[in-house]
Amino acid sequence: MSNLSRRNVLTLGVALGLVSVAGAAPAGAAATSGTSGSDPWWSWDDEVDRLLADLLDNGQVPMVNTAMRSWVNNNDPLPSGLPANLATHLQKANKLPPWADHTKLRLAADFNRRKDTYLFLLYGLGSGIMSTVIPREAKSVYWSAGGADMKDRAAKTFTFGYDMSELNAFEPTGQFVVTANKTRLVHAAVRHLLPQSPQWQAVNDEQIPISNGDILVTFHSLGTFVHRKLREWRVPMSAAEEDAFLHMWQLAIHLLGVQDEFIPKTWAAAYAQSAQVLTPILAPTREGEELAEDLLGLTAQIDLGVTRGFLNEFVRYVLSNAIGDWLGLRRDHAAAAIIRTGWPAYIAFREGLLPVMPVGFYLFDQFIRALAMLFLNKGTSPKATLITIPTANRPE
Ligand code: HEM
Repeated sequence: MSNLSRRNVLTLGVALGLVSVAGAAPAGAAATSGTSGSDPWWSWDDEVDRLLADLLDNGQVPMVNTAMRSWVNNNDPLPSGLPANLATHLQKANKLPPWADHTKLRLAADFNRRKDTYLFLLYGLGSGIMSTVIPREAKSVYWSAGGADMKDRAAKTFTFGYDMSELNAFEPTGQFVVTANKTRLVHAAVRHLLPQSPQWQAVNDEQIPISNGDILVTFHSLGTFVHRKLREWRVPMSAAEEDAFLHMWQLAIHLLGVQDEFIPKTWAAAYAQSAQVLTPILAPTREGEELAEDLLGLTAQIDLGVTRGFLNEFVRYVLSNAIGDWLGLRRDHAAAAIIRTGWPAYIAFREGLLPVMPVGFYLFDQFIRALAMLFLNKGTSPKATLITIPTANRPE
């Protein structure tokens, strides 16, 4: 496949009757195909990808980044000075689809607010570290321009979660619709840039990164993972809240350009898809190990009131010992024992299910509050809110 993209090979193969659409996809992907015969692993964001390829080739991206700097709120007018075809795309894409349900979004926002400390912890230490053992994502992030400055990149990624979790995220005064649209443009640029990176080419099994399937995998490492953990931890949630939380994520991945037919309709469907497309692909890579160390080093710079050994063990507790071993996280068996008994008791007490304050309450409380501060300060980076379209890959 060296000189042909997966998409071209597929088109050619299907035209010649050599492969079925599902047959050519990675393990587990077949069952996620839509009924139309299209496949998330062979779907990217064609129109937007062409648009960004042209902007990059014509050297217009710096000008677009400057124009977009003041474009922040969902109800801000589109910035002036955008190339006409980009403005046309954004006019179409920068709004919620007709299936958006504002009642559910308000409930999701309220749920996010009430459970925010668990969410910060799970997105930050769970999903954030899990992204480093999703090989395609780790390699893409590492070899793109942002991989060279993980502090800034982590802060920008925080911005996505932060904007999504705001009370008014999807309302006209919120910022999430704009943030998601900017991210969609960044991904389209990455699809044009990374295939030009010899280092990325050398370690990758796909010719174009960030397919709809890849985005779904990442969604499962975020939304589906967090939902599963909240259930496992017996954090009280009503059926309506669970449904609203899924709805919020469905809209987020729609805004990132995933076709609606691929988006799971229920948590049961999301769990089934996650078991097929996420769990089996988790694996260590050289790039991922380095990114994980960067990320954990970053949190270690902030005083979370716990030792690095405790942090390592929390990651192991939240993700698994297998992942902890892949990432070479040094063991601290005493901390592991404290977490194993103390964390469930901490949750039970916080949620009003345990009458007596458990031993270790303040340790956990300080830890998750400090993590929340890190999140709310957007990773302490002043540039955090400025999601900008890259113009090059990681230098080297
Ligand atoms: C950029 C979020 C899926 C690779 C970004 C940014 C955000 C984001 C907020 C902009 C911040 C930045 O520039 O660093 C998400 C979300 C996803 C998703 C919410 C799915 C739910 C993926 C996937 C891949 C990927 C599946 C690769 C397989 C990248 C890369 C960048 C990026 C390489 C650019 C970093 C740079 O500036 O060089 N993403 N992403 N993302 N994303 Fe994603």
